[in-house]
Amino acid sequence: MVTTSLIPAPRHVVPGAGETPLTAHSALHAGPGTEDVGRWLGAALRAATGLPWREAREPAEAGGGVRLALAPALGAEAYRLVSDRTGVLVEGGDAAGVLHGAQTLRQLLGPDAFRRAPVRRDRAWTVPHTTVEDAPRFRWRGLMLDVARHFMPKEGVLRYLDLMSAHKLNVLHLHLTDDQGWRVEIRRYPRLTEVGSWRARTKIGHRASPLWDERPHGGHYTQDDLREIVAYAAERHISVVPEIDVPGHSQAAIAAYPELGNSDVVDTAALTVWDTWGINPNVLAPTEDTLRFYEGVLEELLELFPADAGPFSPFVHIGGDECVKDQWRASRTAREQIAKLGLADEDALQSWFIGHFDRWLAERGRRLIGWDEILQGGLAPGAAVSSWRGYAGGVTAARAGHDVVMCPEQQVYLDHRQDAGPDEPVPIGYVRTLEDVYRFEPVPAELTREERARVLGTQANVWTEVMEDQGRVDYQTFPRLVALSEVAWSELPAPADRDFPGFERRMTEHYRRLDALGVAYRPPTGPRPWQRRPGVLGRPVDGPPPAV
Ligand code: ACM
Repeated sequence: MVTTSLIPAPRHVVPGAGETPLTAHSALHAGPGTEDVGRWLGAALRAATGLPWREAREPAEAGGGVRLALAPALGAEAYRLVSDRTGVLVEGGDAAGVLHGAQTLRQLLGPDAFRRAPVRRDRAWTVPHTTVEDAPRFRWRGLMLDVARHFMPKEGVLRYLDLMSAHKLNVLHLHLTDDQGWRVEIRRYPRLTEVGSWRARTKIGHRASPLWDERPHGGHYTQDDLREIVAYAAERHISVVPEIDVPGHSQAAIAAYPELGNSDVVDTAALTVWDTWGINPNVLAPTEDTLRFYEGVLEELLELFPADAGPFSPFVHIGGDECVKDQWRASRTAREQIAKLGLADEDALQSWFIGHFDRWLAERGRRLIGWDEILQGGLAPGAAVSSWRGYAGGVTAARAGHDVVMCPEQQVYLDHRQDAGPDEPVPIGYVRTLEDVYRFEPVPAELTREERARVLGTQANVWTEVMEDQGRVDYQTFPRLVALSEVAWSELPAPADRDFPGFERRMTEHYRRLDALGVAYRPPTGPRPWQRRPGVLGRPVDGPPPAV
């Protein structure tokens, strides 16, 4: 019975006895404030069912079909779905809630409702009689896509937004820049994409691998591509948070504009977009000129990612992770800057750099978010932290009154291997199985009640060093993102008490939905032959993976 296979698990389900038939006479009524959801649902249902789904002007004209309505008392993102003799009614506390309810309706229709054309013209479509009452546990339910290491063309990003919406996820964190590629068109600095958006060749496997792909790799989003992505996300009530990673992870930008680097230490004019993986010593020069340059980048970025496109749209991610200070220590310019600013050391210099953009963004009504290294040296009040080096950064940040997104690498880095077996493609880091992710708890037990409220939510991070195409991204991301969606949305018991066998049972139906959506997930029995990468080295290269 499909009501019991809903994912993420709803708060409350009361099954009924009969079912609601949906036929060529069923219409769709979208009440005031739900018109956009109505357009989305109408398009999805018309495509999958082949039925006409006339738009009714009055609820009474829905003909036992589907009615959408706002019911503000339900609260943000909450919904109630009732399927009974009168048809299907989806009410949401806001339009986002109606959309989540519409996604639940799609699950109730069965896996074929996720296809883009009907596979059988003569089949009957029914919705079981049921009442579902539901609301999210966390406000921030995210996915970070690294489109810098391997570019994901625009179509792929739009597809991921659809996949996120199907799992009630609502924040796409787009990692747009790194040593290996710059992916966003900036009009005033054309070389960022002319030079910075492609590399001549690429390391196959992790750093220790001797293999190279000698084909150039590249691509970038035009400004209109990004406007389209933001608008497509907004239709699905997903906020897109762009990341421009500074002052480390910047070799692609330095290759395009050598004056951005520490040219008194290395010949930055000789640098190219990086073709291998790891932590890179070529970081930005900590100068006023560099700040002015990135203000120019951010001015264009703020226009592309307007603050009112979603609840988390005011956020801009500034990176701040893994900035190696060797060049700053060797640089006369950096030492002079430390003296001029009266700073203690290179760490304080990084804090000055990040602090500048914290203020700069705040003055423009925006909020800075960065990786937990931005805590070093103290943070301005409005800044938020992505806690990736375990829980510790998030705990420190919450205690200091900062908002936190929990994404510890030991738990929810989906580039890490999902099984200890020898067939996992290019195995990286920790073994994190579907069950491990299902038992991930975003809120550390040591936080007080007030500190807990600082945890906005959680996200999974998909770093793409060893994911060269959409199939590899799908394999690493699914099914584990499904477990993360339930962790983020559902009120689950403590990790040890979570019903993983029950989740697995619901996954049986959910794999059929993923099949209909064309997702190249990792099957529970292990990779298919073409999903393996025999002979391609991961990390660590030998010995067992690190224990969590
Ligand atoms: C990170 O994984 N360097 C944020």
